[in-house]
Amino acid sequence: MRSIFKKYSLLMWLISLSAVLSSCGMEPVPSAEPSSMTVASDSVTNAAVEETTAESTESARESSSTDKNEEEEKTESASTTTTSQKKTDKKIPLSFYETELKVGETQMPIVDDEIKEIWTSSDNDVASVDEFGNITAKAEGKCTITVADADNKDYCAEINVTVVPQPGLTYIDGILIANKTYSLPSDYNPGGLTPETNAAFEKLVQGAANDGLDIYLSSGFRSYSLQQQIYNQYCYDYGQAQADTFSARPGHSEHQTGMAIDVNIIDDSFAGTPEAIWIENHCFEYGFILRYPKGKEDITGYKYEPWHIRYLGVDTAKAVHDSGLTLEEYLGIDSKYSE
Ligand code: DAL
Ligand code: ZN
Repeated sequence: MRSIFKKYSLLMWLISLSAVLSSCGMEPVPSAEPSSMTVASDSVTNAAVEETTAESTESARESSSTDKNEEEEKTESASTTTTSQKKTDKKIPLSFYETELKVGETQMPIVDDEIKEIWTSSDNDVASVDEFGNITAKAEGKCTITVADADNKDYCAEINVTVVPQPGLTYIDGILIANKTYSLPSDYNPGGLTPETNAAFEKLVQGAANDGLDIYLSSGFRSYSLQQQIYNQYCYDYGQAQADTFSARPGHSEHQTGMAIDVNIIDDSFAGTPEAIWIENHCFEYGFILRYPKGKEDITGYKYEPWHIRYLGVDTAKAVHDSGLTLEEYLGIDSKYSE
């Protein structure tokens, strides 16, 4: 009996070990069936003992099977806990969860997980976010940017965004102004076209292509120093008075905002082409306005430019377009150099 007890204890010990390994998330080492282990490791021939052994084995089997079921339940419950923990406790790992941006700045957090990201902003007027996670500061204030896993929306993370004013920038009704009256600091550099401008222009190009027209970007973002070179060259070629009718002084060009684009041919030959007519009639549908329309030279400060469009967002662009006014008239502002 003692040896049976010992064998039974060994058996239970092995089952327990297996259960412990399993509950740690480790694959239990595949064990031999308890009966064969018991019999094979023993040379007991006594029938009674055999019977008792068989009973014990059966009982051990049952016990093992019960343990196994319990283990399966445990494993299942552990995996459910993991999923629900991921849902409720875990947040998506990001490179930052707090940020302060100046109006006009853009920042993109790094997402340290392979998920299908869905980005949203609690207040698009303060900071917007595109499908890639580019956060763009729009106006002074605070908001929350959220990223969620498209396949499990409870798995998410939030970024607290504080937007502070950019010294030297002029926003009127949330629109960054660059004209002859309002300038940009020489170091203002959004690093290229803003993500919204880029995305909207891609849609515009596609829309024109659907109508059989080829619209392409000829000049997008221009830094202060590039505008300085361009303007100086025009002054050299045409004299300052004439240059001022078609080229902005450095710091005064909308191209420095990252929200202006010159399309196709940047000269008078573009006027009246199917592409120029399409731009005039359809660019507002994509969030752009034709910034320097014909007959409004005294108001905008520049001659007619059928190629220069400015991104304002679809709602504002439509409102300005429908008003039939220039941006200066729409906002009630001037465009004149002080000297
Ligand atoms: N041609 C426009 C006015 C600019 O230089 O920005
Ligand atoms: Zn332009």
